[in-house]
Amino acid sequence: MLKKIAFLFLFLSVVGCNSRSLTDRGLVTEKAMVVTAHPLASEVGAEILRRGGNAMDAAVAVQFALAVVYPDAGNIGGGGFLVLRQQDGSIDALDYRERAPAAAHRDMYLDKNGKVLENLSFKGHLAAGVPGTVDGMVQAHAKYGSLPWQELVQPAIELAANGFALTQKEAKKLNQQRKDFIKYNPVKPTFILRDKWHEGDTLYLKHLAQTLTRIRDKGRAGFYEGTTADMLVAEMKRGGGIISYEDLKAYQSVWRAPLTATLRDYKVITMPPPSSGGVALVQLLTLAEDYPLKIWGWNSLQAAHFMIEAERRVYADRAKHLGDPAYYKVPLQALLDSAYIKSRMKDFSESEATDSDAVSAGIPAPAESPNTTHYSIVDPQGNAVSVTTTLNSSFGAKVFVAGAGFLLNNEMNDFSIKPGYPNTYGLVGGEANAIAPGKRMLSSMTPTILEKEGELYMVVGSMGGSTIITTVYQIILNVTAHGHSMQGAINAGRFHHQWKPDWVLTEWGAVGGVTGLRLWLKGHKLVPKTGGIGRAAGILVLPDGKLEGGADPRGDDAAAGF
Ligand code: GLY
Repeated sequence: MLKKIAFLFLFLSVVGCNSRSLTDRGLVTEKAMVVTAHPLASEVGAEILRRGGNAMDAAVAVQFALAVVYPDAGNIGGGGFLVLRQQDGSIDALDYRERAPAAAHRDMYLDKNGKVLENLSFKGHLAAGVPGTVDGMVQAHAKYGSLPWQELVQPAIELAANGFALTQKEAKKLNQQRKDFIKYNPVKPTFILRDKWHEGDTLYLKHLAQTLTRIRDKGRAGFYEGTTADMLVAEMKRGGGIISYEDLKAYQSVWRAPLTATLRDYKVITMPPPSSGGVALVQLLTLAEDYPLKIWGWNSLQAAHFMIEAERRVYADRAKHLGDPAYYKVPLQALLDSAYIKSRMKDFSESEATDSDAVSAGIPAPAESPNTTHYSIVDPQGNAVSVTTTLNSSFGAKVFVAGAGFLLNNEMNDFSIKPGYPNTYGLVGGEANAIAPGKRMLSSMTPTILEKEGELYMVVGSMGGSTIITTVYQIILNVTAHGHSMQGAINAGRFHHQWKPDWVLTEWGAVGGVTGLRLWLKGHKLVPKTGGIGRAAGILVLPDGKLEGGADPRGDDAAAGF
């Protein structure tokens, strides 16, 4: 069966070339750029910058705007990671990842016989971790913001209260989720008021506007205490969830030292655990240093074979060693040691694929839902912010907090719900990422900033569950090794290998038909990924100092700036 799929793919990849150009230029601006998953959110960010706000001000405003106009991943009921590089070169990283509620325990998704209760960690009230977004934004603003907090929340309030037009993609997604919205919401949410949504329909989110108003007026207390907290805890009681007043009160984002690595002319600034993204990205880029990717050519046979083999080894490490560092001793130094990383390729063969079973290290991690959203910002002073934020899968747990109008995440599914238990994809999770009260679940989010010769060079990140890391990796190589524009690098077809399952997810046009066939002959099982891999947002500083925005054509993504 797998062979038939592969041959079909090979045929289609010959005839179905990628229509997106690798040489396209994105929007080029003189001073400032915002790239997000939605044109209205990008415009909100750009307007904050026009008013004199800095990149962090814009990031806060965009986070709240996305919670309104891009509800499948934008959020106030989820969490995320933020990486900052200021114009003077100083760097910082904020972890506002969700946490397991205090009443969570490692076997909470198992029946009394130890059997996994499918879906319980994925849909419904019990799937939600304690949201981190509002605390994250409050902390980000307190430490780095310059405009008043109220001004940053206000645009989102207006979008929610005055309504906004649905894009064709968003209307389709709301229609697809309708059954689950009905099933998991004892109180009917706004999203099902119409039987069917169409492009251009106006969506009004009055309850969300009221919640955002409380956040505008009271900051953190507008979400974690008072009316919003009452509504959230009541929602938990109604649906059998476990987030309590104490969990909300106890939630704290964490400022962390960003992970950095110097590779050739570039310094990579990215997210440390509890995201696996930064560690895996640095490992992948370290391996790429020793191979002539430019000479081999973009997604050529040799380049694709090498990259797949590198990904196989890096994801094996990721599965075993990564989890919340407050709960599990992550061997960070060892994993980032260049000699160790390079030793992982000692059994690399140029002629054939390695069997994933023969690659040592980890137990595979659970499959991740391909959602989430990323935005990139550079302000006129040269401050840069890279943010990836999520509810986990599309529309999270599908649960709205009644009266408060926002969706809850289903981030508990990013834990290993039973270490050693294979899920529907045959994947099992490790001890490092087992559930514990208060623990943060492992993530793949990879918000990243690159310096070139000491100057800001690129701001980049993506959505896409476990494919986030390989998406960011490929985009960086597309620019740094192959000289693509920011837009071209994001347009380019992608492939993804994650050790297990031992196959290569491949977008249409990511490799040509002949290359695909030759990869297959080396032993790589190519599997077409029709919905696309990742959706990225990037900004590149051009040689003349102008900024190029790269907005992903796979979504409604848009760049805005001046
Ligand atoms: N929920 C997707 C991630 O954190 O990577």
